[in-house]
Amino acid sequence: MDKFIITGGIPLKGEISVAGAKNVALKILVASLLTDEEMVVRNVPLIRDVDLMLDVLSVLGVKCLRENHTIRVTHNHIHNAKVPLDVAARLRTSSMVLGPLLARYGEATTPNPGGCRLGARPIDRHINALKEMGADIQYHSDDGYFYAKAKELHGAAIRFPKNTHTGTETLLLAAVLARGRTILENAAEEVEIDDLIACLTQMGANIRRTAPRTIVIEGVQTLHGTEYSIMADRNEEVTFAIAGVVTGGDVIVKNSSRHNLGAFLDAYRHAGGAFEEIDATTTRYVRDGQLKATNIVTAPYPGFMTDWQAPWAVLMTQTRGTSTIHETVFESRFSYVSELKKMGADVEFFDPKVKSPEVFYNFNWADRVPGYHQGIIIHGPTTLHNAVLEIDDLRAGATLVLAALSAPGESVIHGVEQVDRGYEKIEERLRALGARIQRIKEE
Ligand code: EPU
Repeated sequence: MDKFIITGGIPLKGEISVAGAKNVALKILVASLLTDEEMVVRNVPLIRDVDLMLDVLSVLGVKCLRENHTIRVTHNHIHNAKVPLDVAARLRTSSMVLGPLLARYGEATTPNPGGCRLGARPIDRHINALKEMGADIQYHSDDGYFYAKAKELHGAAIRFPKNTHTGTETLLLAAVLARGRTILENAAEEVEIDDLIACLTQMGANIRRTAPRTIVIEGVQTLHGTEYSIMADRNEEVTFAIAGVVTGGDVIVKNSSRHNLGAFLDAYRHAGGAFEEIDATTTRYVRDGQLKATNIVTAPYPGFMTDWQAPWAVLMTQTRGTSTIHETVFESRFSYVSELKKMGADVEFFDPKVKSPEVFYNFNWADRVPGYHQGIIIHGPTTLHNAVLEIDDLRAGATLVLAALSAPGESVIHGVEQVDRGYEKIEERLRALGARIQRIKEE
């Protein structure tokens, strides 16, 4: 349990490089279960979620060697198809091993990964789709495990009832080695999925996106090892861009991927944020005059990503006027609001009017816990002040770091391990921009 001590109000200036995408690294490590041959994965971020995924692979019997940002998956001889509860409880994506284990070994036992802090987060869409491919999956509520078996996975025409990012990936990981053709309709379009598809294709898989939301997979007999370098993390870039602007600084982001940030850059431009395209992979983010309040609604790709709304809220506290954030993907992603209020932010909840919430929202509306709100209203500008803060989830954690960097005085942030899940050595990298941020080890 570590905490950050941040002395804010200092404009961040200099260069920072975006690390590899967490939400690709985790899936490519799962994809290594699909082959007996060596996999070399490059540009892997040094983050806690990757460590946890290596733990999952290790209990299954997979050997991984890590050298800085490269992971070599060397000996892929599964001796166990059961993911223990203690590992799974800490890593939601652990359930994605269902696809490869069923396809190759005909069985898998993984705990229900739900119950994390963004709402219920069930995996019903994953499970139902795998059943359509011939898997027999029983959920035992007494121990919280899914017991999955399949003599053989076969291709199927599957239509997801709603968007699911990791659900689409789980099905890809099952279908690449299944017998025959699988068609995924209403499949998610996130660019991280296309990076996984590119890696699977290099491994010998036959996958085509035949329409934006349709993926066709022709199952193959075996896949081989490959060497793959994963894409840059677009959530990191948004975090660093906002860090530059809310501190009144001038941040040059290397390894930038503007082409993956369309909805963010549209909203950012609308809010009066300035950026300069230095070259194809370098972008400078600066503050250029008074910012203006801008409303956003989160959505699956190509919309404004749910992961960006929390850092966006800090930016909006610095704009003139009233802005709104409408979260439509997760039912509970505003844990940072109470903390921003401690810093003087003028934020209140509201319930956006929506015609058919059960259709409109990406989560299962019927299962929503009463009392959740899907919208916040922010009045600005406010000079935030220092506070003692508590982090509740990864993106909320990065958000509170941004808020503390912009607020004059010393803030204390507890629960830093949440930030470590997805950002590599964030304090060291921010310090290189002039930030005064220190990690204190807590017993
Ligand atoms: N949902 C269900 N049933 C399902 C699947 C999803 O009800 O079977 C609900 C979810 O509870 C959520 C919504 O549908 O309300 C969308 O879920 P989705 O499956 O698309 O999200 P995810 O796969 O759980 C991934 C990323 C998230 C990112 C979202 C949206 C990973 C490991 N996680 O989550 O990233 O916000 O897609 O793009 O890839 C993060 O990195 O901090 C993070 C939360």
